[in-house]
Amino acid sequence: AEDKLNYVKSKIGEYPNFPKEGIIFRDIFGALTDAKACVYLRDLLVDHIRESAPEAEIIVGLDSRGFLFNLLIATELGVGCAPIRKKGKLAGEVVSVEYKLEYGTDTFELQRSAIQPGQKVVIVDDLLATGGSLFAASELVRKVGGIVVESLVVMELVGLEGRQKLNGKVHSLIKY
Ligand code: PRP
Ligand code: MG
Repeated sequence: AEDKLNYVKSKIGEYPNFPKEGIIFRDIFGALTDAKACVYLRDLLVDHIRESAPEAEIIVGLDSRGFLFNLLIATELGVGCAPIRKKGKLAGEVVSVEYKLEYGTDTFELQRSAIQPGQKVVIVDDLLATGGSLFAASELVRKVGGIVVESLVVMELVGLEGRQKLNGKVHSLIKY
C-alpha cells in the first residue's frame, strides 16, 4: 500500500501561485492521466473503506471533484452513490446548506430521496482544506436522516485545520 501511495503522490501536480499568489495548487487531475495511478488510487480508497467503514451503504460525492471517486468506490463495494451539488442543479425535493468559501458563500444541496433514514453514509472528496465543504455535506446528510460513518479525501492541507470542524472519522490518503 505504501508503494501505491507513493506512486499516486508522485503523480499529483504542484502549481505554485495558483489560483492566487502564495498558494500551492495540488492538482488531482495530474494523477488521473496516469493509468496506474488511477487504479492505485481506487485501490487505496476502496481498501480504506473496507477496513474502516465496512458498514457503508452509500457513497456521497461532492460537486464536482468528489464525483471522480464516489461512483468508482461504490461499484467496487457493491453499494450505491449519490451527489451533493451546488445549488439549483438537483431536481425534486432538496435540502440546502450554505457554506463559507474564502470569499463569500456558496450553497450545497442533496436530494431528500437520495438517502434513506438511518442509512450509513461515506462522504468522499478530493481535498480537505478549510473543511467548510465537508462540514456542509455532513449537515445535509444529517438533515435527510443519514448517518455519516466516515469522511474520506485523497488530499488534506493539514495546516488549515479543517478536520477540527468535522465530527466522526475523517481520513486522508495524502497530507500536505
Ligand atoms: C475544492 C475541493 C474541495 C473543496 C475543499 O472544491 O475540490 O471540494 O474545495 O475546500 P474546503 O475544505 O475549504 O471547503 P471547489 O469548491 O473549488 O469546487 P470543484 O470541486 O468544483 O472544483
Ligand atoms: Mg470540490
